[in-house]
Amino acid sequence: MSTILGIDIGTSAVKAVLIDENQTLLAEASAALGISRPEPLWSEQDPDAWIAAVQAAVGEIRQAAPRRFAALGAVGLSGQMHGAVCLDSGQKPVRPAILWNDGRSHPQCAALLERLPGIGDIAGVLPMPGFTAPKLMWVAENEPEIFSRIQTIMLPKDYIRLWLTGETASDMSDAAGSMWLDEASRDWSDAALQATGMARSQMPQLLEGSDPAGTLRPGLAKAWGLTAGVAGNVTVAAGGGDAAVGGVGIGAVNNGDAFLSLGTSGQLFVTTDSYRPSPETMVHAFAHAVPGRWFQMAAMLNGASPLAWFGGITGISAGDLLAELGDDSNPGAGPGEGPMFLPYLAGERTPLNDPHATGQFFGLTGSTDRPAMTRAVLEGVTLSFADCLDRLSQAGTHVESLAAIGGGARSDLWLQMMADAMNARVERTAGAEIGPAFGAARLAIMATGRDAPDVCGKPDVERRFEPDADRHSAWQRQLERFRMLYRATKGLS
Ligand code: XUL
Repeated sequence: MSTILGIDIGTSAVKAVLIDENQTLLAEASAALGISRPEPLWSEQDPDAWIAAVQAAVGEIRQAAPRRFAALGAVGLSGQMHGAVCLDSGQKPVRPAILWNDGRSHPQCAALLERLPGIGDIAGVLPMPGFTAPKLMWVAENEPEIFSRIQTIMLPKDYIRLWLTGETASDMSDAAGSMWLDEASRDWSDAALQATGMARSQMPQLLEGSDPAGTLRPGLAKAWGLTAGVAGNVTVAAGGGDAAVGGVGIGAVNNGDAFLSLGTSGQLFVTTDSYRPSPETMVHAFAHAVPGRWFQMAAMLNGASPLAWFGGITGISAGDLLAELGDDSNPGAGPGEGPMFLPYLAGERTPLNDPHATGQFFGLTGSTDRPAMTRAVLEGVTLSFADCLDRLSQAGTHVESLAAIGGGARSDLWLQMMADAMNARVERTAGAEIGPAFGAARLAIMATGRDAPDVCGKPDVERRFEPDADRHSAWQRQLERFRMLYRATKGLS
């Protein structure tokens, strides 16, 4: 039986999984990535560091399951969305990639909206600094010499595909986050390209996420020790943006399937069977990684990352910080009983569209201790999700039940908080923390000829978190205070 490799180019790490055709997990690995922040609001990575991390993760998988890896038959890709990878005529990066959580292009967003007021309905979202197009406008204005050398624009996982296969291609769900895709027709938008000074010839060819997009370079297959029979014969799927591919991993591919993701970033994601833009709510309406599907998504730049940040400055791992709290999610233990935290360490996209928003603790007293601050961090992220759920309902989507994925989904306490604050059932499924790398492997299985309904089943529910009406009322009151705190301090950031 041949095996399938799923690779996710995350922000803090590259993750890889090896599965068999029955989707049994055979091995998994990850390799850490750093972020460079040379100026305030900037967030960059060296695209070649992704290649090195893929090599490291694949090396680990190879070591863990040498025989099964040698029988590799297909590769799928997922990656952090919106990153601008700018290549010259030799297909080499002309500058570091500008990432999804980079806030520098705020002025260009305003200019783009003025130039093309209807862009929100075309691209499914209003111009916001993390998206690819406004960042290219920034490069044109601030680094004209570099801009003049750009031959091709790629998204992060597409740069890995180029290295794996030599092909220049992207998929609908990742292209969706560029602001250059006409989401309704699933094609590049000439109007959006023109408004940002770009040309169709600079864009990769567009495929559906589950389409084949080339084969592994024989040289690489050899270096990876793949058996002679499969070398040169390994299909690489188009893949997708991590938000959509995370959905593929848990079978969120049909109308109404909803999940929350607590990774570095955070998402509330609902699959739709038509394109349903609602740009004024800051909800994103994007093409999905499977054909004939779209999704609505509230995208938060601050998911589980504030907890990792608090762990970094206290010198205690996120797991140990959580262990200090136990699992008491009663209102007596919060919300509103201790300090409050605004989680906007990276600025925020939904619901604020404010790259200048900052994090803050409020309400500290002489008796505030570390667990109280950890709890405030969890509550702040939870309130940000609840805030976003309101935006989704303004966009016409009502959610009663959500699957939960991402590293933060390991915490029972956090998921109970989410259920109570959003008044929705939250379900943690088996393998929830594997996320997009697994979805990428599923797309690779589809690229070898199997259908989405056959491949994209829903994993078993491991634990269900039911909302509690009294606690929900307490969270609603706290949400008002949370919004008030942001509004009251906005001018100071
Ligand atoms: C989605 C988003 C993040 C990044 C990084 O809009 O910005 O999910 O893809 O994970």
